[in-house]
Amino acid sequence: MAGIRSYNRRVLVTGGAGFLGSHLCERLLARGDEVVCVDNYFTGSRTNIAHLLNKPNFEAIRHDVTFPLYVEVDEIYNLACPASPVHYQHDPVQTTKTSVHGAINMLGLAKRLNARILQASTSEVYGDPAVHPQPEEYWGNVNPIGPRSCYDEGKRCAETLFFDYHRQHRLAIKVMRIFNTYGPRMHPNDGRVVSNFIMQALRGEPITVYGDGAQTRSFCYVDDLIDGMLRLMDSDAAITGPINIGNPGEFTMLELAEQVIALTGSRSAIEHRPLPQDDPRQRRPDIAKAKALLGWEPAVPLRDGLARTIDDFRRRFFT
Ligand SMILES: NC(=O)c1ccc[n+]([C@@H]2O[C@H](COP(=O)([O-])OP(=O)(O)OC[C@H]3O[C@@H](n4cnc5c(N)ncnc54)[C@H](O)[C@@H]3O)[C@@H](O)[C@H]2O)c1
Repeated sequence: MAGIRSYNRRVLVTGGAGFLGSHLCERLLARGDEVVCVDNYFTGSRTNIAHLLNKPNFEAIRHDVTFPLYVEVDEIYNLACPASPVHYQHDPVQTTKTSVHGAINMLGLAKRLNARILQASTSEVYGDPAVHPQPEEYWGNVNPIGPRSCYDEGKRCAETLFFDYHRQHRLAIKVMRIFNTYGPRMHPNDGRVVSNFIMQALRGEPITVYGDGAQTRSFCYVDDLIDGMLRLMDSDAAITGPINIGNPGEFTMLELAEQVIALTGSRSAIEHRPLPQDDPRQRRPDIAKAKALLGWEPAVPLRDGLARTIDDFRRRFFT
């Protein structure tokens, strides 16, 4: 559990200049750890970590995780990978390389250093699920040859590598399956529904809702997510995961659009568009394991998280 192990560790965060990575770096620094942030700035940016660069226990290295890395650390959080379809489909071969070669390189480093290593996996390993909500035991329903496969299968192969290093080399691993997360520093143009709606509302453009808007999604606020990530890393060595971390609260797309309009005070109208063919009706994590093993559950209500995210978008793009 968080707080039991001693702090002041030297921690490597790959993808540390990204959305989730920058929040993780902040939290690790705040509790006294030394942080080595590694990123190739493909989807992340130096502005995400600009406020950390002058801290004496923070170091940023430009590096692509598909190449080996030699640093001395006690723990590794492996987050490097583009996360949204527009980004990971831009160069699908590089996406698979990032997941697979990146995992091999980071696991090799962890093995040499005998360091704990956490993998940021994803709910996409469940593919187009036939089971709702998805428990960790569900093996998923993934297309191996489609345009999303570079991400889904890359992440699945990374999980395989983590468990093989654990079985073969006794490496201490933690595999976290992250569900839809939102918050400050999200990309404005990554095609995700929360950032889309906020940008449309702040620009006064129509908010585009697919179909009748009755399809539901679950959204986890970034602070909750990072809290779960830290608890998992600090949990008993016997807890390897995979563990779902996400917010099981379900909202319809219409509810989300209405909340964004109310919180921004926008005069945007809702505009319905045809439903894309592969749009799932529902996606929701089963977090029973996270509750039982980590004592974790999300605490930030959607309304509060959205308000903080809208403030951040206003500051970054509309001042
Ligand atoms: N945000 C979510 O809702 C979500 C959901 C499921 C899983 N995840 C996982 O969490 C991790 C972080 O996601 P995020 O939302 O912060 O995305 P992000 O795109 O903001 O962050 C990814 C970071 O990795 C860096 N990166 C990409 N390829 C790299 C490479 N080859 N070498 C070094 N750095 C590289 C990018 O520049 C970026 O800073 C990813 O692994 C993602 O798959 C995120």
